[in-house]
Amino acid sequence: MKILITGGVGFIGTNTAIYFSKKNYQITLIDNFSRVGVEKNAFFLKKNFPKIKIIKSDVGEINKYKKEILISDVIIHLAGQTAVTTSIKNPSLDFSSNIYQTFLLLDFLRKNNSSSIIIYSSTNKVYGDLKHLKKLSPIDESEKIDFISPYGCSKGSADLYFLDYHRIFGLKTIVFRQSCVYGKHQFGVEDQGWVAHFAKQFLFKKPITIFGDGKQIRDLLYVDDLIEAYYLAIKNIKKSVGQVFNIGGGIKNAYSLLEVIKILENEFKYKISIKFEKERIGDQKYFVSKNEKIKKILGWKPKTDFKIGLKKLINWQKENLKI
Ligand SMILES: NC(=O)c1ccc[n+]([C@@H]2O[C@H](COP(=O)([O-])OP(=O)(O)OC[C@H]3O[C@@H](n4cnc5c(N)ncnc54)[C@H](O)[C@@H]3O)[C@@H](O)[C@H]2O)c1
Repeated sequence: MKILITGGVGFIGTNTAIYFSKKNYQITLIDNFSRVGVEKNAFFLKKNFPKIKIIKSDVGEINKYKKEILISDVIIHLAGQTAVTTSIKNPSLDFSSNIYQTFLLLDFLRKNNSSSIIIYSSTNKVYGDLKHLKKLSPIDESEKIDFISPYGCSKGSADLYFLDYHRIFGLKTIVFRQSCVYGKHQFGVEDQGWVAHFAKQFLFKKPITIFGDGKQIRDLLYVDDLIEAYYLAIKNIKKSVGQVFNIGGGIKNAYSLLEVIKILENEFKYKISIKFEKERIGDQKYFVSKNEKIKKILGWKPKTDFKIGLKKLINWQKENLKI
């Protein structure tokens, strides 16, 4: 089985490459190395998984990796601009990466390799700020979509394109609307990847800035659990084709930012200095994925308890980030 992973040296990409390498898939990674830190993932993969082919390219520069697209059985599209903040500072970069280049890839597949399975990593941000929710309970795929911020618009548009390319052209697309994902090989920063960012601040004994009151709730999903869902979707393509799945750590792994800080204080045995800033635009007060559809169709549920997954992330940071 040949698999092409865009954004392949990023956080989810690296973990996906490791997972499928262990299953003996033939793997090619496309990445423009724009995310700070990911060259370390590329170095790790070259050293430990020398059979993986890494091509440095923008997703939109199809000519640089045309041959690899044509022979792929599976494409997992992870590349993109990932931060809401950056999308507000530079909407055109966000548009180019998440809509335009994504469209070029999808449409190239339509014309040249329409039998491949294509996975798209969307986001719970497609549901907007969810301010209308009266009762806080897990969110399923029937929730009204409502794009807020250029990032919401770009990810949400691409999400709908992938679903529509199944309806209209019969492409084998699957969309995952992912909650907050965390784990090894993640270079979290204040703008994106907050669990990894918070853990790193503890490691380096640096202050944390919280936007809002810190009581926002998120269901935290360990990266290996997410990748298992990708695998199940590929294995059960007849059931997963054309589907959209909400996917997150679920109610058992739902924590507020302040609760995560408490867990980190216990782990590192000291109190960190916290600064509070104004709530960010479009920030959801509560997001927990219902995970029912994916359980029913693919038999998937999150396996990793947050406190265990967090320890794995911290151990990786201790070994891989310079103190
Ligand atoms: N991590 C999360 O919590 C989360 C949650 C929901 C959705 N997602 C989505 O999952 C995907 C992967 O996220 P991640 O956390 O691994 O992010 P990441 O930043 O670690 O990985 C993305 C990779 O894509 C590369 N890239 C960016 N623009 C590119 C382009 N135009 N062409 C080629 N490469 C490009 C970056 O260099 C990076 O290595 C993203 O599309 C993101 O929107 C992530």
